[in-house]
Amino acid sequence: MIIGVPKEVKDHESRVGITPAGVKALVEAGHKVLVEHDAGALSSFPDDEYQAVGAEIVGEAYHVWSSADMVVKVKEPVEKEYYHFREGLVLFTYLHLAPLKALTDALLSKKVIGIAYETVRDKAGTLPLLTPMSEVAGRLSVQVGATYLEKEHGGRGVLLGGVPGTPPGNVCIIGGGIVGTNAAKIALGMGAKVTIVDLSLNRLREIDDIFGSRINTLASNSYNIERAVCEADLVIGGVLIPGAAAPKIVTKAMVSKMKKGSVIVDVAIDQGGCIETAKPTTHSDPSFLVDGVVHYCVTNMPAAVPNTSTLALTNATFPYVMKLAKLGAAEAIRSDAGIAEGVNTFNGFLTYKAVAQAQEREFTPITHLHP
Ligand SMILES: NC(=O)c1ccc[n+]([C@@H]2O[C@H](COP(=O)([O-])OP(=O)(O)OC[C@H]3O[C@@H](n4cnc5c(N)ncnc54)[C@H](O)[C@@H]3O)[C@@H](O)[C@H]2O)c1
Repeated sequence: MIIGVPKEVKDHESRVGITPAGVKALVEAGHKVLVEHDAGALSSFPDDEYQAVGAEIVGEAYHVWSSADMVVKVKEPVEKEYYHFREGLVLFTYLHLAPLKALTDALLSKKVIGIAYETVRDKAGTLPLLTPMSEVAGRLSVQVGATYLEKEHGGRGVLLGGVPGTPPGNVCIIGGGIVGTNAAKIALGMGAKVTIVDLSLNRLREIDDIFGSRINTLASNSYNIERAVCEADLVIGGVLIPGAAAPKIVTKAMVSKMKKGSVIVDVAIDQGGCIETAKPTTHSDPSFLVDGVVHYCVTNMPAAVPNTSTLALTNATFPYVMKLAKLGAAEAIRSDAGIAEGVNTFNGFLTYKAVAQAQEREFTPITHLHP
């Protein structure tokens, strides 16, 4: 199979779909890999590393897209990439189609086989291609929060770990899932006092089993949340209700009672945010103040650490890339129910129910299409 790796063109996207390690494995398996010039540069993978393991470096995106049987990317295509679509092309990337009607139209009208990272499932029923980015964002949230707590960055001048004779910083993490537990690990490592709030008592039990008395666990209700955020120096929002907008768990009134110079990192902002005062920000203008509280609400946090993020993402995506390349899309979809779940568009049909519902369009199960 010919596999194409274009350079990402979405604003501030610095990851790349396949690393030199992936290219090496694909080439050794007999496939041809076309990598657009500088596709890995922002992730610290220069062209010569790709070339050294057998990739062909291609100057123009057009040649990558037009020659490849399968294109492997990171972010959903932006409008200027739509004209590369053609019948039978396999596109393996994050698609996030629900709010993107124009992209859905383009994929359907050109009969692209669109396989979305975010809907591929593993045997345990989890979403293995979302997990690594939540791990990155969770760990990064504390690093970012610690920086914004510095006076220079508008914070109250608290060192998370404190020093002997001073109290440590107080970190309140709302949502104890992948983001929350990864944030907790880093906050504990830095010596902070950590509280995790979650709605699921079973999840809190698991967290208690993992961290023991090093972490305080709290059941999620507005009384507990108000007390916890008022005591916190750093609040991290990591709530998720799958398929729904995040609930506004920390209200405007609660934020107004927080300590001046405390910091909120609302990681859940990509689902609307779980803090009422949060609004999406970008890496070029990441923070703002509300009632003296610093808010950091970047929707694509992993792009701040593209080398780690690319490695983490491709560790998870690569086995699927290999399977699609080895079997071809049709056989891979037939033989792997997890890949079949990833198929959002196939031969002009919309094959992912939640996207069809969000866009009020006809849904055709992939199993009815006999790929
Ligand atoms: N901003 C970014 O760059 C970025 C990157 C990765 C992930 N995210 C987002 O971070 C969020 C969390 O992702 P995750 O992978 O940790 O999800 P997850 O499903 O692993 O964890 C979510 C947790 O929220 C808990 N929860 C649900 N309702 C709650 C409530 N009312 N109060 C307290 N807890 C509640 C759940 O019980 C669960 O433990 C998602 O919105 C995800 O899209 C953002």
